[in-house]
Amino acid sequence: MGKVISICIPKGGVGKTTTAVNLAASLAIAEKKTLLIDSDPFGSSSIALGFTPDKIKAGISEIFDFSMSLEHAIHKTDMQYLNFVPANINSIKLDEKFSKSSENRVILRNAVRSVKKNYEYIIIDCPPVLRGITLNALTASSSILIPLKCGHLSLDAIDRLFDYIKWIREISNPSLLVEGIVRTMYERESKVTEIAEKELKLKYKRYLLETVIPVTNLLTEATFFGKPLCLYKINSKGATAYLDLAYELINKNIESLNN
Ligand SMILES: Nc1ncnc2c1ncn2[C@@H]1O[C@H](COP(=O)(O)OP(=O)(O)OP(=O)(O)O)[C@@H](O)[C@H]1O
Ligand SMILES: [Mg+2]
Repeated sequence: MGKVISICIPKGGVGKTTTAVNLAASLAIAEKKTLLIDSDPFGSSSIALGFTPDKIKAGISEIFDFSMSLEHAIHKTDMQYLNFVPANINSIKLDEKFSKSSENRVILRNAVRSVKKNYEYIIIDCPPVLRGITLNALTASSSILIPLKCGHLSLDAIDRLFDYIKWIREISNPSLLVEGIVRTMYERESKVTEIAEKELKLKYKRYLLETVIPVTNLLTEATFFGKPLCLYKINSKGATAYLDLAYELINKNIESLNN
């Protein structure tokens, strides 16, 4: 039965999409059957994987307006073990609709249920807000992976996210676990990193994953070619870091972390 992991934090531009795409591709390299779902109406995962509108037969908007099942929105990718559900342009209107109606929070959970048996991992790339489609994603998830760019404002977002997780557990998903915090765009020997990490460790040390993702332009460069970095430059430090992250998550027991 597939483990559903949402990549989520209420902060823009911190590496959610980059982590979703490159983690999913790294799990696929490890021969774990993986489904990546782009739940961000802006469709960045879709762009990063080369899914231009002409290549999308159906996406999350059809799932949310009940015109198609999730099975029909699954696309094959260049990787044998990786499938993909794209976002589509209509999803922006959809997000507005869903932010207003909290009764709809189980739609994605119900949609994912029918395909869970076909995958070992289902990774959901979330938008940078805590409402609407994100509420749906976290209601459908077994755990949440939090990407953090070390800087003071991101720490503030983590506090808000932990409050939100508590609320989600109360209202819609009591078994939601925290997978951990992965530090992204990590700059060693920078003063900002040093200060932010000190603060982060005071509160959230137990959630910090060992793998850190270094700052590297190749992660951005690969998206111009519509590829995860492991298919563009496998020997680069960015690709290796995401393979390490996949390995760490595959071998990690998060039950103890959440007790
Ligand atoms: N480790 C990294 N080193 C350098 N640049 C990176 C790294 N990770 C991501 N980026 C770049 O930073 C930008 C933001 O990353 P990304 O789109 O993954 O963030 P996001 O959290 O999904 O943003 P949004 O909230 O807008 O969805 C992108 O241009 C991406 O290519
Ligand atoms: Mg994104």
